Amino acid sequence: MDEFKLHIIEKIVDEAGADGIDESSVEIPPDPKMGDYAFPCFTLSKKLKKAPPMIAEWLKAKIKPDDVIEKVENAGPYLNFFVRRAMLAETTLKEVFEKRGRYGSCDLGKGGNVVIDFSSPNIAKPFGIGHLRSTVIGNSIYRLHNFAGYKSVGVNHLGDWGTQFGKLIVAFKNWGTDKELEKEPIAHLFNIYVKFHEEAKIRPELEDEARAWFKKLEDGNKEALQLWEMFKNLSLEEFKRYYTELDIHFDSWHGEAFYNDKMEAVVEKLKKKNLLTLSEGAQIVEVGEDMPPGMVKKSDGATMYLTRDLAAALYRLHEYKPAKLLYVVGSPQKLHFRQLFKTLEMMGERKCDMVHVEFGHYLGMKTREGNIIFLEEVLDKALELAKKIIKEKNPDLADKEEVAKAVGVGAIIFGDLVNDRVRDMEFSWDRMLSFEGETGPYVQYAHARICSILRKHGKKPDGKADCSVLKEDIEKELVKKVYAFKQVVVDSAESYKPHLLAHHLVELGQMFNTFYTQCPVLKADSKKLVSARLLLCDSVRQVLANGLYLLGLKAPEEM
Ligand code: ARG
Repeated sequence: MDEFKLHIIEKIVDEAGADGIDESSVEIPPDPKMGDYAFPCFTLSKKLKKAPPMIAEWLKAKIKPDDVIEKVENAGPYLNFFVRRAMLAETTLKEVFEKRGRYGSCDLGKGGNVVIDFSSPNIAKPFGIGHLRSTVIGNSIYRLHNFAGYKSVGVNHLGDWGTQFGKLIVAFKNWGTDKELEKEPIAHLFNIYVKFHEEAKIRPELEDEARAWFKKLEDGNKEALQLWEMFKNLSLEEFKRYYTELDIHFDSWHGEAFYNDKMEAVVEKLKKKNLLTLSEGAQIVEVGEDMPPGMVKKSDGATMYLTRDLAAALYRLHEYKPAKLLYVVGSPQKLHFRQLFKTLEMMGERKCDMVHVEFGHYLGMKTREGNIIFLEEVLDKALELAKKIIKEKNPDLADKEEVAKAVGVGAIIFGDLVNDRVRDMEFSWDRMLSFEGETGPYVQYAHARICSILRKHGKKPDGKADCSVLKEDIEKELVKKVYAFKQVVVDSAESYKPHLLAHHLVELGQMFNTFYTQCPVLKADSKKLVSARLLLCDSVRQVLANGLYLLGLKAPEEM
């Protein structure tokens, strides 16, 4: 990936032989004074039977500067390499200039399909916090994989089937009103669903009614299906509004109900492979000592969440022949996915990489109902706060509404993605919307600031600018940060961790601000220097824009 690193490795291998030397043998030192790359010579001491400092000294004498390497120094056990800054700037900035919106993309995935199951909210229920996280993380993983040369297939595995629909039908028949339904569909359905549970405590026979209605639904009863369809359409209408707001797209909307006629085949397959056990009338799969068994069919014949996921996995394997099957779902479902993957393995169907891309909780988020949020409220509040901030910062801005939306929505997305997904995280409006620190607005603002510098200059940056005039250390560091973006994209995609990218963008923004206070751009000493610095600014702008896109944010040109 990193051409300079590869070149350095080749040099070392030429002198010392290849055993034990690979990409991980060369590091990037924390302090640029110690070089751009460093080789810790411990790796070779066993083979050469010499102390590392002696090896460093010996290699330093052997490896001569060339058109990539400016100098080599030994410091104790380390061999430090300094790359020629003119060449580094020249290759990097010109590549960005040529590739533009595609800079950082690569063909790592060789066109293979990656099916990403994300968002997947439940019909007739509010979008949970977990669904928001899944949506935001999943979308970034979707974009990252497309950029890394895969073909992403986004699947919204809607929770549109299961015994809860029996309860909902009973609830609607008892307490539902068309008027309320029209006004606030999901809130109404949710309220009567909650009421069902309260009432069922006093009148347990409601539970039997609900079971009977779900059975009718599974058997294709017309009335049940009609109600179910209405619930589903009303929910989808609302969910799709959110997706538009968040600029998120799915390639498939096959929810759990889609697998209704595909589950019998799964059960048959399990039976044929002798994987089913009868337990108190229910059909279960024993998945090993370290996990409880998975349930495939209840004693009344009703299918389960697991059954539908088995059918969905087989369908996706067949339909997309994927290189990877990803499930972006919260950590509480860890056991479910272990059971799912294990069952598929025992069926001989674990035919590609299958990964549960899990994530933690939001802490301290004030909500009306436990972990329930009304996403609409969150989005509205973000917009309102962003509008206020924009008005204060830039009262003359032309399309305030549009920018406020990009900043408000961006703040929520970035506020989520800047954290390692597996950790629980604090939800704080103040922190998310701040223009300082690791926030969306901070990165967007750095981008807008560069756009403003380029606007002031008036002309487009010159792709043929002479980069050898960029002699300041901060300029070299900035170029290196632009160059490193390519690897960060790959690392973020492969580890399913967009926070690596989010951090890189914050650091790039910070470094740019340092550069801008130290180095005049439009008023630089010579025309040549103005040109080169403008090209550098434009490259940083491009990387910020590409990076923001990959996280799912917009990059306004003014704010
Ligand atoms: N609807 C589920 C829930 O809200 C999430 C579905 C995740 N995807 C899957 N294939 N199980 O908990």
